[in-house]
Amino acid sequence: MDFIDLKRQYRAYRQEIDQAVSAVIQSGRFILGEEVSLLEQELAEFTGAGSAVAVSSGTDALIVALMAAEAGPGQEIITTPFTFIATAEAIALSGARPLFVDIDPKTFNMDVNRLAELLEARSRRGRMPSGIIPVSLFGLCADMDRINSLAQKHGLFVLEDACQSMGATYGKRLSCNLSSMAATSFFPSKPLGGYGDGGMAFFSDPDLAGRARCLRVHGETSRYRHEYIGLNARLDAIQAAVLRVKLRHFPNEIEARQRAADRYSSLLESFREHVAVPEVPEDYKSVFAQYTVRIKGGIRDRVAAFMNSMQVPTAVHYPVPIHLQKAFAFLGYRQGDFPEAERACQEVLSLPMHALIEESEQEQVIAAMRAALEHLKKI
Ligand SMILES: Cc1ncc(COP(=O)(O)O)c(C=O)c1O
Repeated sequence: MDFIDLKRQYRAYRQEIDQAVSAVIQSGRFILGEEVSLLEQELAEFTGAGSAVAVSSGTDALIVALMAAEAGPGQEIITTPFTFIATAEAIALSGARPLFVDIDPKTFNMDVNRLAELLEARSRRGRMPSGIIPVSLFGLCADMDRINSLAQKHGLFVLEDACQSMGATYGKRLSCNLSSMAATSFFPSKPLGGYGDGGMAFFSDPDLAGRARCLRVHGETSRYRHEYIGLNARLDAIQAAVLRVKLRHFPNEIEARQRAADRYSSLLESFREHVAVPEVPEDYKSVFAQYTVRIKGGIRDRVAAFMNSMQVPTAVHYPVPIHLQKAFAFLGYRQGDFPEAERACQEVLSLPMHALIEESEQEQVIAAMRAALEHLKKI
């Protein structure tokens, strides 16, 4: 069994994908171009976001958005310590300093009460950060309305790191259209993934979108005229062609992911004492980029090793919080600074999850988990 079975997905859409890729090769136009513009239009429409700017990865989408918002040295930008490294990396690469807020243990997303406390404390000291990057982790949106209203009160920008949440809903709106800027990833294993690296930045302000469009091509405003120092962060046409095919199937895939998640949660009903299943708050719909449980009692690694020995792949997203990563040692954080993020790193375990996973495979995963818990004399 594959953790994410991309070969099965290819077999399902093979004819359409082969045709789309072949058309790009025959066109001789490989970088940006019509396929990329069409993908931008389709995703702006799908998410409801004002403008979409296609780039070469989720990391570049974060970087381009931060550059468009003029993030830089002397600024601080708030994010969560329980995320993929790229979120904090993009902040550091912009020249700004990451500032962390611990997570809500139920959703794994930024704890908005703690965010409010931090902003109040900073406001009293007269030293405000310039922006917030909430991460909609594992496919579940962060509490964006509350974050936006705190940001508005204190004059901060908000950039949703939606690299795991394309297709997730928050009330009636979709991820990538919940704040003035958002960044998503088309890494192959993402809910909407290409056949290589890719990403997209979203903007409600057309001026920022225009700047991002220049920044992704070396800051170029017209041929060989460069208004900004930019990047080579362009999306290629083959990725756009693959993504446009997958986008047609995406609404069905989102539902299939939610059905698969519900199935896991009901199969896990009988061992709730040892395993906490993902909680989706009312009015949210997760796209389950990962189906991530908590294994209680300090036995996560032993459960994972046992399951892996039964040919069931699992993953730990993430074993080390960002504030304790060597690369960020210069920030001076210590063990104990963000206890919820640290505890999550000890307890989380992601199970095989994709839109085309079969019931029998999910039963096999849960049988392996039951065997692991029995072996460890927990049930
Ligand atoms: C939360 C988060 N942010 C940023 C990224 C970076 O995306 P990419 O790998 O496309 O650069 C990822 C991808 O794994 C992610 O999960």
